[in-house]
Amino acid sequence: MLIPMPFQLAAVGFLLMAANASGQDGLPDGNGRKAVQMHCVQCHEISQVTRSGYSEQGWRNNVNMMINVGATVPKDEVELIVQYLAKHFPEKPKPAATLVPGSAHVNIREWPVPTPGSRPHDPAMAPDGSMWYAGQFANVLGRLDVKTGQIREYKIKTPNSGPHGLVADKDGNIWFTANFKSYIGKFNPKSGEFTEYPMPDPAARDPHTPVFDQKGTLWFTVQSGNMVGRLNPRTGEVKLVSSPTPRSRPYGMVIDSKGVPFFVEFGANKIASIDPNTMDIREYVLPNAQSRPRRLAITSDDVIWYSDFSRGYLGRFDPKTGKTAEWPSPGGPQSLPYGMVSIKDTIWYSESGVSPNTIVRFDPKTEKFQTWPIPSGGGVVRNMDVTRDGNIALACSGVNRIGLVELK
Ligand code: HEC
Repeated sequence: MLIPMPFQLAAVGFLLMAANASGQDGLPDGNGRKAVQMHCVQCHEISQVTRSGYSEQGWRNNVNMMINVGATVPKDEVELIVQYLAKHFPEKPKPAATLVPGSAHVNIREWPVPTPGSRPHDPAMAPDGSMWYAGQFANVLGRLDVKTGQIREYKIKTPNSGPHGLVADKDGNIWFTANFKSYIGKFNPKSGEFTEYPMPDPAARDPHTPVFDQKGTLWFTVQSGNMVGRLNPRTGEVKLVSSPTPRSRPYGMVIDSKGVPFFVEFGANKIASIDPNTMDIREYVLPNAQSRPRRLAITSDDVIWYSDFSRGYLGRFDPKTGKTAEWPSPGGPQSLPYGMVSIKDTIWYSESGVSPNTIVRFDPKTEKFQTWPIPSGGGVVRNMDVTRDGNIALACSGVNRIGLVELK
């Protein structure tokens, strides 16, 4: 029997509707569900949405982020989607911040960045004292004049570059990792010119954290690509090597006093160093198999400090002796210690798993912690930098702000 076309289509449509109504996509019935089904599936699985949980403000920031990278949500459906998601996928309960008093004093200031949903990923200080950030989802580099509070955004030449980490050179050029477009970028704020250094291997798809050594060579990690790289700014030559451990997710990186880059493997319980000449990688295994070091800082004695994201610990590793020591972070096992720096051999980091997120100070001499809440809640501080005056620059990624922790 010949079935007329319109009926066939209707039947298929009905089957799809039936599948959806049974909640197979994880989206409960409700006003806004259709809009999510329509606008949130072009680039990733719907599970990316349904396994997340945010406050209303958090979802508004997320939907703005998605619009920035190309989601075609009509203006009058944004709030519909935000309300639907906030109702059905609320923020997952987080442990309350543990506030530890102490004798240090800080003042925390924050500035909202101009484009909604920018996701300021990393901060970086420039030689002129300005604070820069990578607006990963808005495809901008931003510059804050700390004195006036004025922020200027610079749109990156290649759309959807996904600027992630950034670092200034001595001349004030801003170098950034284009996490979505597989290149290292250089921005000259004086001329407005962007220069791109593509990865020589397509497997190096997500350049992550850049850092300069004392000679002016740029080193960087490549997280999913499982590599580390070296870029010579004079010749533009890029060299890549793979991490010895598969899927080790090379993440934060620092340079020691002798010019040796160290990085943490966020996909393993390892810290590694790179021979700056041969690029041979040497791995050091941390004692606990569950450790997942995410960022690191280095003190003047070339001792490595790391945030153990998975276990909620602050760790200390001395490459000279191979010895490790660790301290439970004040916020506990779910505190998710993340962005960190060392200032005058005192360790500062943020706990991203507690509410509100905290700034943590650890004094290696007394082994004492002190903590402060971040006024905006923090929204996950993924990285920090140190200002000329020894203060801390923050990027508060999920609340679309950048900040400054002034140490008194
Ligand atoms: C134009 C492409 C695109 C569309 C359409 C899109 N997204 Fe995304 N989404 C992305 C990208 C890119 C990421 C980042 C993935 C990554 O970091 O690996 C992402 C990540 C996410 C995340 C995880 C966020 C995080 O911080 O880790 C959530 C939640 C999300 N999207 C929700 C949505 C919702 C809700 C919609 C519909 C309003 C949507 N997405 C539509 C591109 C898109």
